[in-house]
Amino acid sequence: MIEIRVPGDKSISHRALMIGALANGTTRVRDILTAADVRSTASVLRSLGATVPDLLASREVLVDGVGVRGFRSPDDMLDCGNSGTTCRLMMGVIAGARVAGTFTGDASLRSRPMRRITDPLQQMGARAIELGEAGKLPIRIEGGDLRSIRYELPHASAQIKSAILLAAAVNGVAVEVVEQVRSRDHTERMLGAAGVPIATEAKGDRIVVTLSPVDRLEALDVIVPGDFSSAAFFLAAALLGACDAVRVPDVCLNDTRTGMLRVLEMMGADVSIENPRTVSGEPIGDVIARHSELRPVSIGAEIVPSMVDEIPMLAMLAARADGETTIRGAGELRVKETDRIRAVVEGLRTIGVDADELEDGMVVQGTTRPLKGLVKTYADHRIAMCFAILGAQPGNGIVVDDPAAVDISFPTFWTSLERIRAAA
Ligand code: S3P
Repeated sequence: MIEIRVPGDKSISHRALMIGALANGTTRVRDILTAADVRSTASVLRSLGATVPDLLASREVLVDGVGVRGFRSPDDMLDCGNSGTTCRLMMGVIAGARVAGTFTGDASLRSRPMRRITDPLQQMGARAIELGEAGKLPIRIEGGDLRSIRYELPHASAQIKSAILLAAAVNGVAVEVVEQVRSRDHTERMLGAAGVPIATEAKGDRIVVTLSPVDRLEALDVIVPGDFSSAAFFLAAALLGACDAVRVPDVCLNDTRTGMLRVLEMMGADVSIENPRTVSGEPIGDVIARHSELRPVSIGAEIVPSMVDEIPMLAMLAARADGETTIRGAGELRVKETDRIRAVVEGLRTIGVDADELEDGMVVQGTTRPLKGLVKTYADHRIAMCFAILGAQPGNGIVVDDPAAVDISFPTFWTSLERIRAAA
């Protein structure tokens, strides 16, 4: 059994820095993810006047909050790099903090849709000025006194929900956000810990998140658990037989994130959880996976939001399952760091797997033949990592064209994969 410790959860790391910077007092964040995406959030917060130390300097980060009215409008553009979460959540923060800022990012982020964020923020009373192509970055957001809205999410997206909740919490207005399928709820949990009255209720076939106004946020003490989305790669490595078994300790097991565990069970995978407990308001535990024979599976829109970042890895497991796997209801994958439906299907075909795109998903035929080839990652960290894991299965020979892409979310990925290879 190889123990692979994965870095801190990306979603929780972003939110801890943002809420910490807006709180009254000093927020302590332990085991924060130091990858490029979270460094983008730190740098945007610094441009707004928050004191956020160099994340790489220590395992413990202390953020001196400036309060919900303490930000200043920066002169320079807010460069979010590759990070959709930085950009979309911070648009909400700027709108609520009564300041103005112009958002930009790398070529991938500049191609991603932003009206899903600017529409609700404009309904709340913020201004959004598109400075380039319609609905794309660069976009200037001008905050002010916002009004309360009830907003039904047009896409199952925690980023949209979080932008609205953060805008309301920072501005001191009530808001109601309605979801059809529950998306990750780290923002709700952390705002609750910061003293914001916030409740989630099932009403009929909808989930309603209700936030009541406050005039300040309390500082937090956050221990960031391991990122389930990073853990999923190494659980898959063991399932594929790259080694006999892997244990990933201290992983966030929030059920809005672990749809993949339910799908793995359907596939007949040998996965178990030990030491379940709660840390900083999030359920965590150790996850163990062992080499398994996998069955194909069919999944749809009801489970996709709880495993949206794991679908590329699921497609790799499907390539080794005994039959045809169908993934539907996953149209959101087309607007991630790259079009992940296209990139996954193209990569699978390149290495010899029979796979087809659907508008909102894909169909993958499992095979036992050796899989070999050079895969294009389109600079997408999760595309690079999922093909690298499939490549680590004995008998395969897969090379990814951009190994450095992993730095976006999992800088130690290759070192961990080396440990698996060495043990094989
Ligand atoms: C995230 C939400 C998801 C996910 C992304 C992180 C977050 O995006 O894909 O990696 O931290 O809120 P969507 O909300 O657009 O699905």
